[in-house]
Amino acid sequence: MLMDIRTGSSTLSRFILAEQRHFPEATGDLTLILEQIAFAAKLIGREVNKAGIANIIGSVDSFNIHGEGQQKLDVFANSRMIQALDHLGLFCGMASEEEEHIIPIPDKYPKGKYLIVFDPLDGSSNIDVNVNIGTIFGIYKKINQHPGDANTADFLQKGRQLTCAGYIVYGSSTMFVYTTGRGVNGFTLDPTVGEFILSHRDIMLPDTGKIYSVNEGNFEKWTPEMQKYIVDLRSKMDKAYTARYIGSLVADFHRNLLKGGVFLYPEDKKNPKGKLRLLYEANPLAFITEQAGGRAVDGFNEILDIQPENIHQRVPLIIGSKNEVDMYMKYVGAGKNK
Ligand code: AHG
Ligand code: MN
Ligand code: MN
Repeated sequence: MLMDIRTGSSTLSRFILAEQRHFPEATGDLTLILEQIAFAAKLIGREVNKAGIANIIGSVDSFNIHGEGQQKLDVFANSRMIQALDHLGLFCGMASEEEEHIIPIPDKYPKGKYLIVFDPLDGSSNIDVNVNIGTIFGIYKKINQHPGDANTADFLQKGRQLTCAGYIVYGSSTMFVYTTGRGVNGFTLDPTVGEFILSHRDIMLPDTGKIYSVNEGNFEKWTPEMQKYIVDLRSKMDKAYTARYIGSLVADFHRNLLKGGVFLYPEDKKNPKGKLRLLYEANPLAFITEQAGGRAVDGFNEILDIQPENIHQRVPLIIGSKNEVDMYMKYVGAGKNK
């Protein structure tokens, strides 16, 4: 339900503090973490908004672990996220789409019990053409509170162990959407005061939607079951589905979260394990989706139940309204079990 921004003058900080009171053991750590992520988001959003004139568009001559050319804004966003969080004394490690290895907390800073995984800038191919992009993050507690740095096992926890997940979408407005397991809430940046204001309280995904989001340019590479699923969606005369695909996961996801619908990036002949990454794209958005009453699968398993094997592993992702994801599982999940 969209809260009237004039009456619901709850800022992100005030909302988090109020939420924190529901957790007796809360120490305010998550409040500080989310406020710092929001600060990094404001810095990233500021660069995004002036990308065309700030010499921040275009690529740098480096490549990430995925062999993808890094955009200047990828590198900028990555460093802003790290700098906003590494000195808080609350983290014992970080993992980023833009860094091959786990990012340790410098020894000059105290270490804490949290670890964060993030995609600092999602939708990089859209930066130079002024199309919505975003930042995605997920926060875990380290396992068994062992002392010192996070280890690999801490980063390979299932998505169901997430303490908090969220994203920022830099679009016509900048929105911050997150969950700590008590529902999903959205905040819109009021640039005149530099505060994120509660604008979308208790976001719930409609059980069914009329939007499907997929890169139909991959049609010939899909499995026959996936091809049939899309053909049948298109021809459902009782319910005219419409295709919407921005090419930025966060932007496609955000629209479907508010309006209902399904986003799909399944495996195909070119990407046998799908294209999107489990740790810092699929899991955080799957946590948000389940909190909002939707479903997220890889074609067989719930995304949140998948045991990660490495921090950059890819996974097929079908995510959104329950009805359309259930339908996919009938077409594809069952099909594969033949
Ligand atoms: P990133 O920019 O973080 O690498 O993510 C890009 C992803 C995702 O944002 C989007 O859904 C997908 O790539 C688009 O892929 P295609 O261009 O192959 O459709
Ligand atoms: Mn991404
Ligand atoms: Mn990215």
